[in-house]
Amino acid sequence: LRPSHRLLSRPGTVAADVRREEQSSGSVETGSEDQTPKKRFSEVQKERREQAQRTVLIHCPSKISEKKFLKYLSQHGPIHNHFFYESFGLYAVVEFCQKESVASLQSVTRTPGLGTEAAIPFRSRCFSLKLRSPSGQPSEPARVPCNSQSPPSSKKLFELLCYAESIDDQLDTLLKASQLTEENTRLRYLTCSLIEDVAGAYFPDCAVRPFGSSVNSFGKLGCDLDMFLDLDEIGKFSAHKTSGNFLMEFQVKNVPSERIATQKILSVIGECLDQFGPGCVGVQKILNARCPLVRFSHQASGFQCDLTTNNRIALKSSELLYIYGALDSRVRALVFSVRCWARAHSLTSSIPGAWITNFSLTMMVIFFLQRRSPPILPTLDYLENLADAEDKCIIEGHNCTFICDLNRIKPSENTETLELLLKEFFEYFGNFAFNKNSINIRQGREQNKPESSPLHIQNPFETSLNISKNVTQSQLQKFVDLARESAWILHQQDKDRPSPSGNQPWGLATLLLPSVTNSLSLAKKKRKKPASERIKNLLESIKSSGAEGPTDTNGK
Ligand code: CTP
Ligand code: MG
Repeated sequence: LRPSHRLLSRPGTVAADVRREEQSSGSVETGSEDQTPKKRFSEVQKERREQAQRTVLIHCPSKISEKKFLKYLSQHGPIHNHFFYESFGLYAVVEFCQKESVASLQSVTRTPGLGTEAAIPFRSRCFSLKLRSPSGQPSEPARVPCNSQSPPSSKKLFELLCYAESIDDQLDTLLKASQLTEENTRLRYLTCSLIEDVAGAYFPDCAVRPFGSSVNSFGKLGCDLDMFLDLDEIGKFSAHKTSGNFLMEFQVKNVPSERIATQKILSVIGECLDQFGPGCVGVQKILNARCPLVRFSHQASGFQCDLTTNNRIALKSSELLYIYGALDSRVRALVFSVRCWARAHSLTSSIPGAWITNFSLTMMVIFFLQRRSPPILPTLDYLENLADAEDKCIIEGHNCTFICDLNRIKPSENTETLELLLKEFFEYFGNFAFNKNSINIRQGREQNKPESSPLHIQNPFETSLNISKNVTQSQLQKFVDLARESAWILHQQDKDRPSPSGNQPWGLATLLLPSVTNSLSLAKKKRKKPASERIKNLLESIKSSGAEGPTDTNGK
């Protein structure tokens, strides 16, 4: 064991440098154990939402002078921030200092008169900037610097990993290369804000809030954008304004259930997005799902969006993951690597199906880190015990209370390296009794499975739900086989440790290569024992004979 891993150090060291770098580029809200107070989830959401409301999205001609563009827009007020990116064409995200500037810009903007087609007049915050006389444009610098909104290609990532200095460095490199950037985060909040404008035509006091991996600190560039149409504020207003003996209520339409109300609302908003939403294409209403949703592509931002409503618990679970991600810098690095490993071996997919999801993998990593000795992450029960009266939160009868001020949670004393944790993660789940045990981050220990799904991960708030109910036995077996194989590869490398070199894959990079077990499993039937059993036995024999066996995972 190295005495401390790279990021678990105090200000003045590498961690502080990384932190400063993150702060200066603004790419990470939180995420290392330095002394800087970390923002609450609700504070981040509030600030970002307000920032998005002062922001516009402009489709630009491909050749444009940045200086003139900014000067032109500054007529409407000072600009706080801007960046360009390429989607279907060149786009600019421009954040004004004041919200009034947006209205000023809208007031001088015209609705295009089209030739054979007709425009549906909708005054949004998505604009197209046209050149009045293209020939009159200057011949000065044509290409504006563009900010990338996609993750590095597998080839590029592979190269980066091969050139890293250590396995710890590889995990950190992978995190830095694939996490959401400051600009991508702003674009996500802006997209929600633009959808809010459309939904606001029906429900003026609604809010559209991002949740899931866009905000829980585990988002990867290119991940989908989960949105929550929040209508609760509308209800709240009226509650405050009652006084005296009278109680005033709105006359409303009644429907038989909450679910039907959700379906009706989403159906109308979906229709609106389809008919009037600038750049909203491929709108699908998936209203019979357990959690009804409207799925669409937002062309200008390039995001695949899932809009839900009446889904407040998911927002709370995003907050919980945000807290776990911010408590210790090893958490996100490990989660990103495990997710990338799972994707590389097709354990996860962008298409819904019988596979493990990223959300389930994140829960598995959190659970594993709760099981270390000393634990790296606290249990949800512990976070609930730390909660104040203001943190109390009951949603639809489910207890969603936990401490929201992450500065009051004591950092872990565990100093294990990422390298060790990655190896131990694979070993832990390569040997986990999935047939009888359930993964439970609330208590931080295995529970007996309450039902017979192959993989059981308890939803931390709706405790009767299994978040991985969709996973089949064969998909779980594939996960276990690959976990064992990866543990084996890391052990082998430990023994005859190849010196890191840019020429050959090593460490984490090896784990992302096509699996040996997969090819062996084709011939599996001919053999007495499946490949993964043999790998497991080999691992055990190394551990019992070798001096450098892994530390106790506490979980077996
Ligand atoms: N969610 C849940 N139970 C599930 C699936 C999802 O509570 N069975 C909630 C989680 O809060 C999750 C969010 O819905 O974060 C969004 O789901 P999804 O998009 O599937 O996962 P993400 O965490 O956003 O990860 P990804 O990057 O794969 O989109
Ligand atoms: Mg998502």
